[in-house]
Amino acid sequence: VSLRPYNTFGLDVRARYFARFASADELRQLLNLPQVQAAEKLILGGGSNLLFTQDFPGVVLKNEIRGLEIMSEDGTDDTALIRAGAGESWHGLVEYALDQQLSGIENLSLIPGTVGAAPLQNIGAYGAELRDTFEHLEAVEIGTGALRVFTAADCGFGYRESVFKNVLKDQFVVTAVVLRLHRQARPNVRYGAITETLAELGIEGDPTPQEVSRAVVHIRRSKLPDPAVIGNAGSFFKNPEISQAAFDRLKSQYPDLPGYTVPGGVKVPAGWLIEQAGWKGLRRGPGEGTHGVHARQALVLVNHGGATGNEIRALAEEIIAAVRQQFAIELHPEVNIL
Ligand code: EPU
Repeated sequence: VSLRPYNTFGLDVRARYFARFASADELRQLLNLPQVQAAEKLILGGGSNLLFTQDFPGVVLKNEIRGLEIMSEDGTDDTALIRAGAGESWHGLVEYALDQQLSGIENLSLIPGTVGAAPLQNIGAYGAELRDTFEHLEAVEIGTGALRVFTAADCGFGYRESVFKNVLKDQFVVTAVVLRLHRQARPNVRYGAITETLAELGIEGDPTPQEVSRAVVHIRRSKLPDPAVIGNAGSFFKNPEISQAAFDRLKSQYPDLPGYTVPGGVKVPAGWLIEQAGWKGLRRGPGEGTHGVHARQALVLVNHGGATGNEIRALAEEIIAAVRQQFAIELHPEVNIL
């Protein structure tokens, strides 16, 4: 089976076996099959955070669990719980919440991928993260088929991080996510680009969640390539964290270096480092180039068409080396390289 339609880099790799499941029960049935038990397994959502560098020798299980509902008995005067099937599109969930006049995830508008993938890396953008509204999730243990509920504390969320990426990696399949959203609008406009864009769109005063969503969609469309048009997986690298001392040293050499303080030090934008190192907009490969660094956001590597995963990985390694050489900062991939 070609995995090309199932990864947003648009890489034409193959999987030995491929199956879909639309419920936790269907998933359990699949996990009980001897062929599936014996094979290496890859659980796929929207394929928007993956770089395939080779064919997948095992079985790909695509999560198509649907369902969006307000859990009316469990809400409060101020908040409502939304339960979403893990195979729903994340942006579809954002739109559903907006339709229900619920606030809390509008800053996360237009993030590609599925609901089930969102907690794995605690998706975040424009001053919000999944964990801000996360209530719990349901997951099936691959080894036993048991259903388990994970609270926010159980998930160990960090910056683009959760237990499902480290200690529990490849052990659970998320089947549903429950979020606690606000009935009253709580505009989160801490991120400068949002206030600027709201002004640009002529929106004055306290914005509604719909207006914040419009602003975020506007920013994303202006900077980030649409995976339906140009293959990509969003940010290819995480923003690195460095010590305050290292930041101060670099800042004296590069006065424009942006950075924001976090508990352990200072986080600097990888996109800025990559741009300064001269890689923004670079293209590699025959003709006008098959792959490269996005011209409007240096943090995003792109497949213009015809690149292989290994070529993109090689480019990523060159960028890591160049940033290390110039800034003595180590970049780490944010996408999952397979
Ligand atoms: N910058 C540059 N050149 C670039 C890109 C960025 O100089 O080519 C500078 C900007 O001028 C700005 C700073 O870097 O001062 C931050 O840029 P931006 O607001 O575009 O955000 P980011 O730090 O590059 C992160 C997330 C994005 C998320 C945005 C907005 C990570 C790894 N990436 O990018 O997430 O949308 O913030 O909150 O944290 C994703 O994960 O796939 C993703 C797109």
